[in-house]
Amino acid sequence: MFEIAPSILSADFSRLGEEIAAIEKGGATVLHFDVMDGQFVPNITVGLPVLKSVRKVTEMTIDAHLMIEDPGNYAAKFVEAGADMVSVHVEADVHLQRTLTAIRDARGKAGIAINPGTPLVHLEECLPYADFVLLMSVNPGFGGQKFIPTMVDKLRRLRAMIDERGLATKIEIDGGIDAGNIGEIVESGAEIIVAGSAVFGKRTPTESVKELIEAGTVWV
Ligand code: DX5
Ligand code: ZN
Repeated sequence: MFEIAPSILSADFSRLGEEIAAIEKGGATVLHFDVMDGQFVPNITVGLPVLKSVRKVTEMTIDAHLMIEDPGNYAAKFVEAGADMVSVHVEADVHLQRTLTAIRDARGKAGIAINPGTPLVHLEECLPYADFVLLMSVNPGFGGQKFIPTMVDKLRRLRAMIDERGLATKIEIDGGIDAGNIGEIVESGAEIIVAGSAVFGKRTPTESVKELIEAGTVWV
């Protein structure tokens, strides 16, 4: 089983409510909410006020991906503002275990996000405190980038790492995913599939989500 998590980064922000309704109609169950601070990544997006508004218009699971420095200062606030899942980057947090615990204490699902160039060994100590790992398959900062092919092998190794430890930690993957590569990604063990430009870029978001579900399902 896998879920599609459209990233609203590629949506039309002036019509956000309609875009959200459209992906829901296509069968998306998770809404990926990209937060960028212009420090950790070279781009700035949205924050708590937009999250609060989005929370009012959807029942979908909201998944806040914090691409920000010192995420420990904000992570629990995102749960309070309506996020069901919050991920913070292992590269941005020297007190990762504390931040993950704070997210859980606020009754959110805690996630560790990891950049393409960061070895999986950096996850080891904190895996038991994480409900999910967000494996980046592009360098974060922008939508519409190309999937980094070596991330398939990294995904397989992460799957093995979690299974060997008998953990229930879910794997989410983010960046450059479309109908052409989703099959291999699902087959390699990812359970939550983020897609931005593949959902909002081409046809209607409803059709695009359906197409992704179809393309991934053959492989389950
Ligand atoms: C990248 C973001 C992604 C992005 C994905 O920094 O974290 O969530 O929106 O967009 P696509 O699917 O276009 O790569
Ligand atoms: Zn993201």
